[in-house]
Amino acid sequence: MKKLILFLILNCLAFECIIGQNSFLQRQGAATQLVVHGMPFLILGGELGNSSAACPQDIERIFPKLKRMGLNTVLVPAYWELIEPIEGQFDFTLTDKVLQQARLNDLKIIFLWFGAWKNSMSCYAPLWFKENHKKYPRAYTQSGKPLEIASAFSEAVYKADQRAFSQWMQHIAMVDKKEGTVIMIQIENEIGMLEDARDYSHEANKAFNAPIPAEFMTYLQKNKKALHPQMLDKWESQGCKKQGNWQEVFGADIYTDEIFMAWHYAKYVEGLAQTARSIYNIPLYVNAAMNSRGRKPGEYPSAGPLAHLIDVWHCGAPSIDILAPDLYDNGFTDWVAQYKLHNNPLFIPEIRLTDDNSIRAFYIFGEHDATGINPFSIEDGSDSPKSPLVQSYTQLKELMPLLTKYQGKGLMKGLLFDNENKERIIIDDDLTVTARHFFTLPWDPRATNGSIWPEGGGILLKLSKNEYVVAGSGIVLEFSKTSEKQTIEKQKQLGEDGFALGNDQIKTKHHKFKGKRCGIGYVDEVKVDKDGKLHYVRRLNGDQNHQGRHVRIPVEDFKILHVQLYEYQ
Ligand code: DGJ
Repeated sequence: MKKLILFLILNCLAFECIIGQNSFLQRQGAATQLVVHGMPFLILGGELGNSSAACPQDIERIFPKLKRMGLNTVLVPAYWELIEPIEGQFDFTLTDKVLQQARLNDLKIIFLWFGAWKNSMSCYAPLWFKENHKKYPRAYTQSGKPLEIASAFSEAVYKADQRAFSQWMQHIAMVDKKEGTVIMIQIENEIGMLEDARDYSHEANKAFNAPIPAEFMTYLQKNKKALHPQMLDKWESQGCKKQGNWQEVFGADIYTDEIFMAWHYAKYVEGLAQTARSIYNIPLYVNAAMNSRGRKPGEYPSAGPLAHLIDVWHCGAPSIDILAPDLYDNGFTDWVAQYKLHNNPLFIPEIRLTDDNSIRAFYIFGEHDATGINPFSIEDGSDSPKSPLVQSYTQLKELMPLLTKYQGKGLMKGLLFDNENKERIIIDDDLTVTARHFFTLPWDPRATNGSIWPEGGGILLKLSKNEYVVAGSGIVLEFSKTSEKQTIEKQKQLGEDGFALGNDQIKTKHHKFKGKRCGIGYVDEVKVDKDGKLHYVRRLNGDQNHQGRHVRIPVEDFKILHVQLYEYQ
């Protein structure tokens, strides 16, 4: 009984603590949701270019445009060098201007703490810090070259960064606790070591030759079954030792150097994360530059919060909520799959600004229960209502109550197609959904004239048996009973009117038909209200659904469709 009462009291305290927070993360099934002002929220955002929040005039000019673009959130740098231009003297003018403009333009803010490291370099550290290299030592390459990278092994570096961060956090808490405009904070930016895989400063070498901290060794042993495959391989390659220095436990190569370095970056970040939490409890994340294009540690920022280092980061920086990928290279679907893990929600703080982001946004929410997406240098995008991103964000904002209701329940799929990946077959109980790029229909000249297809895709959400919401752009979907598929080998090619294009088309091979078929009852274009309810706009039939054969949303068009199927024999 006593235990039950204690349990209830603790639960109430935890609940009260969450109620007091303007934004926090919560689990819903397999998803981690960001809750803002009590409502699950999807970040339809953008990150400002690096120098676009460095004067009040630019902030005033840019923010109204971001509102017109349909963003609900903007990621904005907080520059250490401008916050503490003179050692010990703090200036929050730009932070205040950002908050004022955000509130005027209905935007939420995610601040990026450009502290000791930005893209691995220490370029945003104030000049007084940079010049005093004796007090604030640099990282060194193996050949002894000092770098424009502050050493993560220096207590003085940490204290200077932490003091500024803590002053700034206190300011945020003071001016924003009530309003809750700031919904998340990124600590540092694309932290990592360049040129070599690890720091070779005197302090770093000492730590490298010391035993691996017991904390990490215990983590490896306790989580052996769930370790990232690369981490497990590396540990197993030396016989899963329970103690030893970094090379003894992981072998002598640059990937061991990277693990070592990741541990120390994570520990450093954990210090800042605990500082933040002690001042103002808000979700925290770190971002990573990808280990893409076959590059090795040091060629890319070694030791950042990369997918293969997730165990090091989770153990070293448990106060960080999300490890997030910055996506500038090919292979979008592979990268995002690496970051949506049972123990890491998908949040994309940066992605190269292209029209395809309009489709990718649908994909990540449908396929990965993502928290948000943010094209980089967003102020350079178009604010025309016809721009793909503006259309996409407008519809996703409308869909938000519905998507957040279904997050984590396994009822949503994301669709993403291009010239190479044109089709996806989804088996849903006894139903087969064949989803394709819109240009697999040959009727638009761009489908066959060698044009690069704009990406097409969207979300398929199952409301109940035979009832779906389909949203997005540039897709076509056919529904059939899984059993009926096997009875037809190939179909004749049909024109847009649904009649055979000619008599010399591929022959249909008939088998005896068995079982049920499934047809389209109706397809309605709908609006979604604040409670997630669907409201009829217009029926799409005839030529618009190929006389009942498929459901489609043309390229350059964004729609939300309510699809009711039926069965017949
Ligand atoms: C990733 C960084 O995080 C951004 O700040 C910016 O430098 C972009 N790369 C590319 O310009």
